Amino acid sequence: MCGIVGYTGKNSALAPVLEGLRRLEYRGYDSAGIALTLEAGLPLWVEKRAGKLGNLEETLDQGVPTSHSGIGHTRWATHGGPTDTNAHPHLDNDGKLALIHNGIIENYVELRLALEAKGHHFKSETDTESVVHLLSDARKEHGGDLAAAMRQVCAQLRGSFTLLAIHSDDPERIVGARRNSPLVVGVGDGENFLASDVSAFISHTKRALELGQDEVVDITPTKITITDLAGNTLPPNEYEISWDASAAERGGFSHFMLKEIYEQPKAIADTLIGRMSGLDSSITSGLELVNINKVVIIACGTAYHAGLVGKYAIEKWAGLPVEVEFASEYRYREPYVDAATLVIPISQSGETMDTLMAMRYAKSHGAQVFSVCNTNGSTIPRESDAVLYTFAGPEIAVASTKAFATQLVAMYLIALHLGTVRGLLSPEFLAQIGDELAELPGKVEQVLETVEPLRELTRKFKDSTSMLFLGRHVGFPTALEGALKLKELAYMHAEGFPGGELKHGPIALIDEGTPVVAVMPTGNALLTEKMASNVQEVKARGAVVIAISDVDVPAATHLIRIPTTHEFLQPVLSVVPLQVIAYEMAVARGNDVDQPRNLAKSVTVE
Ligand code: AGP
Repeated sequence: MCGIVGYTGKNSALAPVLEGLRRLEYRGYDSAGIALTLEAGLPLWVEKRAGKLGNLEETLDQGVPTSHSGIGHTRWATHGGPTDTNAHPHLDNDGKLALIHNGIIENYVELRLALEAKGHHFKSETDTESVVHLLSDARKEHGGDLAAAMRQVCAQLRGSFTLLAIHSDDPERIVGARRNSPLVVGVGDGENFLASDVSAFISHTKRALELGQDEVVDITPTKITITDLAGNTLPPNEYEISWDASAAERGGFSHFMLKEIYEQPKAIADTLIGRMSGLDSSITSGLELVNINKVVIIACGTAYHAGLVGKYAIEKWAGLPVEVEFASEYRYREPYVDAATLVIPISQSGETMDTLMAMRYAKSHGAQVFSVCNTNGSTIPRESDAVLYTFAGPEIAVASTKAFATQLVAMYLIALHLGTVRGLLSPEFLAQIGDELAELPGKVEQVLETVEPLRELTRKFKDSTSMLFLGRHVGFPTALEGALKLKELAYMHAEGFPGGELKHGPIALIDEGTPVVAVMPTGNALLTEKMASNVQEVKARGAVVIAISDVDVPAATHLIRIPTTHEFLQPVLSVVPLQVIAYEMAVARGNDVDQPRNLAKSVTVE
């Protein structure tokens, strides 16, 4: 959802705030705004515009006064449309206090009514504006102490929030707070940063501080103070950021998504390092796995598809029943869960609200939580009993690619670990699957070398209204992922089906020229034959079939050849052409590849 950045320090604030917003724009791009403090007593300088960050930047050409402290926001609209007025920052009625917000204030209506009754005048339709008025009154009550005011206000709020505030009378200070929404501190030399994630300040410092739930942070250029809502000072939890600025840049690729597709071999290799012969106790020591009798995987979107593949692997290798749940549905159906349940939340960002809430529900009912996450210091791993980090590096494009590949790898590693703990896997099998895993980066490399013709082929279907994806076994979740990618990038109707389900309804969608992608690697002879029949069935009804396989598929119209690997590992290879199809289709249709309409990278509202 929204991206938030704050800078205070020896340098001009405008450049680091704009750079941070540029790097965080993947989080939301409906509008953008900046507020800067000038000398004490002078009014704040504020500019905000609907639309992408570029719209705001154009207005800055007219000149910006020198400032050493400021906050910036890039918005994914929830309450109130994407207009100049609804854009953040929001100001109090004195025009001296500016506030930016990520999340949803659930009690904003009652707060607004009470504040209006007290004489506050509202300008926007946002939930955020209630907070700035509340904060303004609280600051006056606390004799100008913005951090004390923030603590008081946070205690009155319901919902999720990251908040940053500045006041014109205290120009070097930025005060932030968080609950169920991300905020990290960047520790510089004579300068400090606050941001939704570390990519905003990675070119300035690699030192970061984690902030926990309901914590308030008060920064000046030389001091960082973290407190809980009662005002108790908390010790900083510092960590070093392991990647550098180039990882968050396009590096010669036309889009972040394309770069991230090509980074998959490295991401997979990095996630496998040191883990192929088992997960060591530094990862799993927080878990008691011997007595678990059920696994529940909770995730959203692409991560959910990785979970579906994980189900096949865990059931087969660890002999445990596995449920895979849409995180957004899980807690609301009040599922049965107890201490013998292992819950595996999968999340690239570690901040997805639906996943976090589902995980908290399971934990509160006694489940053990073993999360799979790509973002160090984020909320989901912090609240888990154990975490298996994926090492995809920063994923900037909204459409998930390399994170998915590494989530698949993580699921295989967990399945093998569970199977080993339960004594079900022979050393021969472990050695064989270990070899297959080790070969995956090279095999993805091979797929990437052969996808060029697919790019031209995809453009032929640019004007199609619909595309279908078929698969069986682990090819089915792969088909779902291919369809999701196409929907979010090409804005085209797309659906994934198990091959066997076709004749139960979906085959009616097939018409002359309908493109159908058949995910049909071999590995299970029976299923290969059945998929071949499905290809014949759709072709007989006019479909143009693009098969993704490691063998010839005579009935297909086009074949994308991928290397052979273990049956369960096939999604890591067969998803790559599907990512390329979605990418190429988005380009051909003139869509914004990295920031597709209506979406945001990190979904921190339910
Ligand atoms: C996929 O391309 C999406 N951007 C989306 O489905 C994403 O995977 C989902 O929102 C989950 O995000 P997370 O992994 O950060 O929790």
